[in-house]
Amino acid sequence: MGGAGDGHLRDEIAAAGAAALAALEGAGGTDAIRSALAVQRRSLAALKSRLGGIADVEQRKECGRLLGEAVARLERDADARLAAASESERAAAVAAEAMDLTEHLQPALFGTTHIVTQALDRLVDVFVGLGFVVAEGPEIETDFHNFEALNMPASHPARSEFDTLFLEPVNDLQRRSPVLLRTHTSPVQIRVMQSVAPPIYAVMPGRVFRRDTPDATHMPVFHQIEGLVVDRGITFADLAGTIEAFTKAFFGEDFTSRLRPSYFPFTEPSAEFDVRGRDGAWIELGGCGMVHPDVLRAGGVDPEEFTGFAFGFGIDRMAKERHAVADIREMYTNDLRFLRQFR
Ligand code: DAH
Repeated sequence: MGGAGDGHLRDEIAAAGAAALAALEGAGGTDAIRSALAVQRRSLAALKSRLGGIADVEQRKECGRLLGEAVARLERDADARLAAASESERAAAVAAEAMDLTEHLQPALFGTTHIVTQALDRLVDVFVGLGFVVAEGPEIETDFHNFEALNMPASHPARSEFDTLFLEPVNDLQRRSPVLLRTHTSPVQIRVMQSVAPPIYAVMPGRVFRRDTPDATHMPVFHQIEGLVVDRGITFADLAGTIEAFTKAFFGEDFTSRLRPSYFPFTEPSAEFDVRGRDGAWIELGGCGMVHPDVLRAGGVDPEEFTGFAFGFGIDRMAKERHAVADIREMYTNDLRFLRQFR
């Protein structure tokens, strides 16, 4: 090769150096960069073998220097690209292998809360917020707790208002004092007074039973919540104030309550209470009154030292009204299409 080849080789070195950098630029990922690097090293090395063909020493040195620079640029560029690519590959691998530990609740798989349970839970929440504790009693009750202790002895006419379901007596004790399905939650008042000393601020929710034929507004099994307060110096004003506080907390600030004189054997005086929203009609909710001295005594409380008030109302009707259910029987047929409407 002669002098003409020198200028030619110089151009080829410049072109090969530029092509080598372009090849690396086009390579995505460490593997592609490494194989592009190998290919470009070989093509630059191929040019090196032609240096010996340049006759002019200065020109040979100059081409050697240019070729050395092109190789060095290629190696530097490859190092930088490999570092960047391996860092982003590591980050991608970490992201791909990461485990999502977020707990995803899928309500559909866990069923729904029945609207009566929803109402019951909210009622309990509100009363707990007002400072009450929650108590429960048995669904199978004695005649004593369900009637007698509540001032309804065997001869009392009020008993006939409760269409009671009695259980078959299994021994002499039960023949003398019948066992029945409780007709209301009021007997839990007696059990609470028998088990804890005043001050008592308790609510008692639960299932109750009456011998009723089911229709659009009645079921033989339904739910009530009972309230009992026994303390020193409790007055009728405390009762009215509690009913009003409950009304606002449960139904909303624009609701109000009223008491109407009534009669229950276990309270004296007795009242029924109604609630009303602004511009709404009065809705009857339940019964209440000052706990009768005989009832306090039956619970082991001295009526000379303590006074109290009680209240009780049905929960099913509240749920029915709230969700505009036309027929209360729909609430108990366990039709999933009905139940799933109320999540
Ligand atoms: N137990 C009554 C019923 O089932 C409701 C009731 C009225 C409960 C007055 C009370 C009360 O505690 O004071 O009809």
